[in-house]
Amino acid sequence: MLQRGIRWKFNTPTASHHGGVWEHQIQTVRKVLSSLLKQQMLDEEGLQTLLCEVESIINSRPITTVSDDSSDLERINPVSEGSCTVVWAVDHYDVFLCPHTEKGDFLALDLGGTNFRVLLVKVSDNGRQKVEMENQIYAIPEHLMRGSGTQLFDHIAECLANFMEKLGIKDRKLPLGFTFSFPCRQTKLDESLLVSWTKGFKCSSVEGHDVVALLRKAIRKRGDFDIDIVAVINDTVGTMMTCGYDDHNCEVGLIVGTGTNACYMEEMRHLETVEGDEGRMCVNMEWGAFGDNGELEDLRTEFEREIDCGSLNPGKQLFEKMISGMYMGELVQLILVKMAKEGYVFQGRVMSALAHPRTLQDLLRVIYHFSAEKVLRELGLDPSPEDCAATQRVCQVVSTCAAHLCAATLASVLRQIRDNKATDRLRTTVGVDGSVYKNHPQFAQRMHRMVHRLVPDCDVRFLYSEDGSGMGAAMVTAVAYRLDMQHAERQHVPSSEDPH
Ligand code: GLC
Repeated sequence: MLQRGIRWKFNTPTASHHGGVWEHQIQTVRKVLSSLLKQQMLDEEGLQTLLCEVESIINSRPITTVSDDSSDLERINPVSEGSCTVVWAVDHYDVFLCPHTEKGDFLALDLGGTNFRVLLVKVSDNGRQKVEMENQIYAIPEHLMRGSGTQLFDHIAECLANFMEKLGIKDRKLPLGFTFSFPCRQTKLDESLLVSWTKGFKCSSVEGHDVVALLRKAIRKRGDFDIDIVAVINDTVGTMMTCGYDDHNCEVGLIVGTGTNACYMEEMRHLETVEGDEGRMCVNMEWGAFGDNGELEDLRTEFEREIDCGSLNPGKQLFEKMISGMYMGELVQLILVKMAKEGYVFQGRVMSALAHPRTLQDLLRVIYHFSAEKVLRELGLDPSPEDCAATQRVCQVVSTCAAHLCAATLASVLRQIRDNKATDRLRTTVGVDGSVYKNHPQFAQRMHRMVHRLVPDCDVRFLYSEDGSGMGAAMVTAVAYRLDMQHAERQHVPSSEDPH
């Protein structure tokens, strides 16, 4: 060593064999790695992902002795006070699961993220039911997301008019289902009062009002077409409905996209706010609001707190701000900026390009596994290989954490359903939709794996629902429309003028 000019620093106190604590940690990591990996060979990406998993396994171990007394800590479940906010009356879910007699043309509107979709669903019944769909995506410009409610609903009515014009159906009064994915107090199938805006929307004079009435008003004002708005639903419900059509075991609807939320079928006897004890009802949990009563204070990091403070709805949707696609880019950005400030990356310089709000979209690309180097260079930065690896790693940690948090809440829903059925082994299906779940190359797999670890006694099938939220509204409309027609026929007293 001397010959090569290497200086020997005698520093045994920091050598690993002197550090019982970290030696022990190294041993644990090794053990977890070897039992997960066995003989498998991994590439760099695979290894990094596995290390994220290992890190979370180690971090998720209880840090105190777990008490044997089951009354010591109460498990938070979906119907615990504070977590379940809105109940939606799909009280005859079975009727919705067998809509095999529906036929006709139905329109659906899907509003819930930055895009807004209009759909025409054609159900024909020539022996075997066939469903065809036409749809068009319209952007909601930012100024409309935060303008007046009248402007927003006028824009929706205009897009609908444009869509009907294009398809040559403007002269028909079709039944329509409206997927409106914000927290609402639903009073009837076609009446829903917005409780508060989420996901970057903040239009004036809509909170506290019935969104169906606002849409009807905007359509009436135009006067160039008419529509029969039959139902308004949440996207989680639409997703559960659509998946339930293919798989009758589907009793949970999950969205992980711009926002996050879930709904599930709950026993009526557990729902204090609804009259009656018989049967089941769909509970729209609005789980994005979990934590708004302080339940997550021990878990939230300084980055999530900063995001919340700068958001349009501070103190609200705290769980959503830890998970959903709308906030992931900003989380990564805040972490990288802090790392740069502390000298860990980018030679300690916080370049304006890194801290700029426009950078969020680019960082999101890294989260979705674009090359960090390419993205950082496009931003005008000159990253070292270490900067790129660190950026990639931060993205991985943020998205893995989101997947695991989602899995943890979903696991509590599954436990609730299992307990309701008083069964040892639950077999159930979860219908899922949302851009993060659909587009992130590893989110779904990480979430599934964690759910299986948390509730090994549940056989869960995840069913991805293409277009679920919009299609669901059309399905609910189709069934409600048929039930209405049947009801009207029964009420009809035949007169002598009726044709025989
Ligand atoms: C937000 C909305 C909720 C919706 C979810 C997913 O959390 O409040 O209603 O289901 O986003 O779009």
